[in-house]
Amino acid sequence: MVGPVTKRPKSGFASLSEVEEAAARKVTPKTWSYIEAAAATGWTDRANREAFDRWVVKPRILAGVREVDLRTHVLGEAVSAPVYVAPTAYQGLVHPDGEGGTARAASRAGFLAMFSTLSSWSLEKIASARPRGPRWFQLYLQPEWKATERLVKRVERAGFTAVVLTADTPVLGVRDAQLRTGFAIDSSIPLGSGPGVVPPSRGPERTGEKYSVGSATGETWEVVDRLREATDLPIVVKGVLCAADARLSVKHGARAVIVSNHGGRQLDRAPASLAMLPEVVAAVGNRAEVYLDGGVRRGSDVLIALALGARAVGVGRPVLWALAANGEGGVARYLELLASDIASAMVLTGRSSLSKIDRTLIAPWPA
Ligand code: FNR
Ligand code: LAC
Repeated sequence: MVGPVTKRPKSGFASLSEVEEAAARKVTPKTWSYIEAAAATGWTDRANREAFDRWVVKPRILAGVREVDLRTHVLGEAVSAPVYVAPTAYQGLVHPDGEGGTARAASRAGFLAMFSTLSSWSLEKIASARPRGPRWFQLYLQPEWKATERLVKRVERAGFTAVVLTADTPVLGVRDAQLRTGFAIDSSIPLGSGPGVVPPSRGPERTGEKYSVGSATGETWEVVDRLREATDLPIVVKGVLCAADARLSVKHGARAVIVSNHGGRQLDRAPASLAMLPEVVAAVGNRAEVYLDGGVRRGSDVLIALALGARAVGVGRPVLWALAANGEGGVARYLELLASDIASAMVLTGRSSLSKIDRTLIAPWPA
């Protein structure tokens, strides 16, 4: 006899561990190669996950927790959880709802969401799909400063509340999976914010004896000063992986830094972001907020990063999986599952609020 037929939920996934699989059934192999792509051998992408395996989360019993409060603030803006949607490009490729779907789902759930310069929807349309809550624009520097400046002015006018400068992408990493399927990040993929906006350089290209990259590259920290002059919005630097760059970010006026190796998509053999978090937190002190992304999948991962000093953590690929699986509804369902996973971990560790999460929550493993 066959057992009861359990109806699949509309989102195509009933738990966080099924999201990736649900997405894989929905997108073409070429698009899949882009989402999953990591640089070169994939060492850094794997290291992001493995870094979490070096910690255990310590349960506490009879701690009297009846309610759990996940709320916090990022740069003074209220959010319902210490997790945010990391910026990812071309969301229209995985589902017609695109960035609008992500924006609406995150807004309804009260999550911070960051949106890429390389969005399928225009930045103005994204902003209007997200009437509430913090909306942060992720900036890729444009080949000409004037174009960057124009973009930042549009971002301000549209009502975004912070600019996240992704600084780890002077050239795109060497992504073997994309090379295999021929998925190329270039002007052939439509960009919502207009044909005047360009992706980072695919170079370096050989020019005579040397290799050169596009003109948006070769930038120095001075560009952060220029950005500060161009806008009153707070500036966040994404892609910080060492104390020295964390200090420079603060020195040049960043209000927050994101410890990130771009999901292992840029420099292969770059360290896991979680491994570099304590050094960045120590370098920054209370002069800026520190966030982290890379390999965050479960509530207990979030707790580990918070115990090591992150204020909030980002999720990249999982949101794309959820969007691919069921558009806006998929992202809404995913964020709900993730928040409840965090809440469960907090109950089981006897923490009723984020302020109770400290280093005593975790221990190195093996012990
Ligand atoms: C990214 N990421 C990224 N970052 C950024 O600053 N601008 C961007 O346009 C993109 N685009 C992008 C596309 C895709 C398909 C992926 C998977 C990632 C990096 C992203 O913000 C984040 O750093 C990582 O995704 C975090 O790692 P996990 O959560 O994917 O493991
Ligand atoms: C990526 C770029 C576009 O990771 O940020 O694909």
